[in-house]
Amino acid sequence: MPRQCDVLIIGCGIAGATAALSLAEKGLDVVVLSAGEASNSAWAQGGIVYSGEGDSPELLAQDILDAGAGLCNPAAVEQLVCLGPPLVQEFLIKKNGVAFDRNEDGKLSLTEEAAHSVPRILHHKDKTGAAIMSALLKNLRVELRTHSTAIDLITLSHHSKRPVDLYAPSTCVGAYVFNANTGAVDIVFAKETILATGGLSEVFLHSTNPRQARGDGIAMAYRAGARIMNLEYVQFHPTTLHAPPERSFLLSEALRGEGARLLDINLKPFMQKYHEKKDLAPRDIVSRAIFGEMVESGADHAWLDITAKSREWIGNRFPAIFRHCLERGFDLSAKPVPVVPAAHYSCGGVAVDLTGKTTILRLRAIGEVACSGLHGANRLASTSLLEGLVWAKTASDDILATWKKRKDSFPPVEEWQMSHEVVDRALIQQDWMTIQQTMWNYVGLVRDLNRLRRAQKMLRELQCEIDQFYERAALTEELIGLRNGVLTALLITQGALRNKTSRGCHFRIS
Ligand code: SIN
Repeated sequence: MPRQCDVLIIGCGIAGATAALSLAEKGLDVVVLSAGEASNSAWAQGGIVYSGEGDSPELLAQDILDAGAGLCNPAAVEQLVCLGPPLVQEFLIKKNGVAFDRNEDGKLSLTEEAAHSVPRILHHKDKTGAAIMSALLKNLRVELRTHSTAIDLITLSHHSKRPVDLYAPSTCVGAYVFNANTGAVDIVFAKETILATGGLSEVFLHSTNPRQARGDGIAMAYRAGARIMNLEYVQFHPTTLHAPPERSFLLSEALRGEGARLLDINLKPFMQKYHEKKDLAPRDIVSRAIFGEMVESGADHAWLDITAKSREWIGNRFPAIFRHCLERGFDLSAKPVPVVPAAHYSCGGVAVDLTGKTTILRLRAIGEVACSGLHGANRLASTSLLEGLVWAKTASDDILATWKKRKDSFPPVEEWQMSHEVVDRALIQQDWMTIQQTMWNYVGLVRDLNRLRRAQKMLRELQCEIDQFYERAALTEELIGLRNGVLTALLITQGALRNKTSRGCHFRIS
């Protein structure tokens, strides 16, 4: 029997959890899907934008607009700067008890990050996202389906058994959901579906994101016919620990906010050559500067130096980073550590308005999966948690405002057709390697026409193979992810090919 609910939320980071809390509080029947792994939100180290001394919504807006390199949507920026800081106070601190760090005098401790005019970032040591998520999840009283992955959105035109629904406006009525524990595919009908699936950086070889960040929401929305925009603007974080063959590990920008400096391979500072704000220049500039220094010297990394601070201070302010590095033989207080840039954040996504509405009726997208134009061509540090919070609230408020008058019904839909060929995991791993290497080498920090064309050709061929395999194979979570990953990689590449203008984090040399 299909499950029928009021709102289906796909993803459970700050955006999904905030929407779920806000809607359930008003009595709506909410189902939340979570693949059961850490979200990008829970991994966020640095912090969340608040309001600093001498700060104002106008000053914050100007910083966002400057970072966005002329491509921000002014209405989205205005919404964030006006609603964001009060929501942090009301919803996160007062209502959900998030314990941000405080100074000795009891006032909230504010740090600085790149391209901010004043220190205005709230943090919980270097585990801000984890502190927020644990507070929100503690209060969440909804049907939370862990180990559940949405496969495809159910739309009237694609899945209804009523022939004339083909002519209905494009409308989402829920999702087919894979249950990794039972291997079954469930139908979950919903009057409203909210995508809150996070980002896509795992389609690149080096990324700061958890494995689930492979563009699931973008791929599902695209297949359902939603408008997708700005995918070429993938932000690369300048500093991740370079300790191959280990996965990249984020070294928060807050380190530079607290005085850490970037050094070239000969231990010389270099950021003064690239921007007046030096180490705290916008991220795209810092990332490309590191990349440029690496190419020029032939080195495979740069250095990050925070040795001016004491061991005790670093251990207290950045305990998780300090421990992670130490466990791999790097003592942040004794020597500079090797760093390289890595894919970090998608500024593009499923096109939405100020309440998360997509171009498909009854489908919203919030958080990193969405693109309201807030970030333009490059995101200002520590705005992403705030964006998730704000759009979750405006989407929920908008849903609630018209709820009582709604008369939704669900159509008869096609059952999921199961296939049975056993999945060869070696194939999946190899395909992922191809996607990630192709994206890193051909669609990375610096892009040119020939590489982009090559990437498009390779990814198209691979997508064809994967789609054929997907038709025959027994479903697994990994296979669902691979199908989404290759499509997302292709969409990024096509966006990068179409757009010949270098701007923000999309940089073309030809
Ligand atoms: C960081 O801690 O450097 C990441 C913060 C962000 O991406 O907003």
